[in-house]
Amino acid sequence: MSSIKIECVLPEKCHCGESPVWEESSGSLLFVDIPGKKLCRWNPLTKAVQRMTVEAPVSSVALRQSGGYVATIGTRFCTVNLQDQSVVTLATVDKDKKNNRFNDGKVDPAGRFFAGTMAEETAPAVLERHQGSLYALFPDHQVKKYFDQVDISNGLDWSLDHKIFYYIDSLAYSVDAFDYDLHTGEISNRRSIYKLEKEEQIPDGMCIDTEGKLWVACYNGGRVIRLDPETGKRLQTVKLPVDKTTSCCFGGKDYSELYVTCARDGLDPDSLARQPEAGGIFKITGLGVKGIAPYAYAG
Ligand code: BGC
Ligand code: CA
Repeated sequence: MSSIKIECVLPEKCHCGESPVWEESSGSLLFVDIPGKKLCRWNPLTKAVQRMTVEAPVSSVALRQSGGYVATIGTRFCTVNLQDQSVVTLATVDKDKKNNRFNDGKVDPAGRFFAGTMAEETAPAVLERHQGSLYALFPDHQVKKYFDQVDISNGLDWSLDHKIFYYIDSLAYSVDAFDYDLHTGEISNRRSIYKLEKEEQIPDGMCIDTEGKLWVACYNGGRVIRLDPETGKRLQTVKLPVDKTTSCCFGGKDYSELYVTCARDGLDPDSLARQPEAGGIFKITGLGVKGIAPYAYAG
């Protein structure tokens, strides 16, 4: 039995840290601070952090096959070059919804960049409901809209056989699954595979492990949970010393470390005093499971 170790490895004080992505080529972790409008790359070996500030909330980042990154910034799908700090817009969504922004995003196994939107919040998880939609940026830069009426578009990932798309609309307190057609990018047959328990609070970001199980970060729940999407059962709970855990990804050597992001915004002074590491990057080791490499945008 390995023993689980949880540590804050980067005291970044993000307003809302999100979208951790392991970049194998540089041995570093990418992440964003959404309201901080910051995209970061941290190398755990050299301890170097590269930061880039953009013009609007940046809610997700992903690798790009041709080099550099793609990111969702405001309501735009963009390419990002961390070297020269340049941003190029590839497409804009929700043009009729001035109060919207993108939220979580991830690339599918065929290189399409999926991301959903939400209304801007007045306080964490307080917002005009049903304003969001789920989109994907295809490799030809065309945008496909899948559905609307989303509250807070959040975690997403695909099954290991690429036949299921997992998706979280946070305020539904559910982890959902769709049948997935990798060839066309079509989704169908939406169903819930897990309903969160009260103390688990709000489901946020998620990632899959090499056993096909899902790791879901629970916002306000201070934990990540491991779910079996086939039985609908929770297999494991790992608690962190911060309440606003937002997302997770596997990284490090052999993808055996689970990196977890979290937020500071929304914590009152008392809670902040009790959780000074809020907004930092956490690393969980000793889980005995591994993750898979992130897919890169093909356009
Ligand atoms: C959003 C936050 C939100 C949180 C809880 C995150 O993905 O970016 O703005 O407060 O989810 O639902
Ligand atoms: Ca999120």
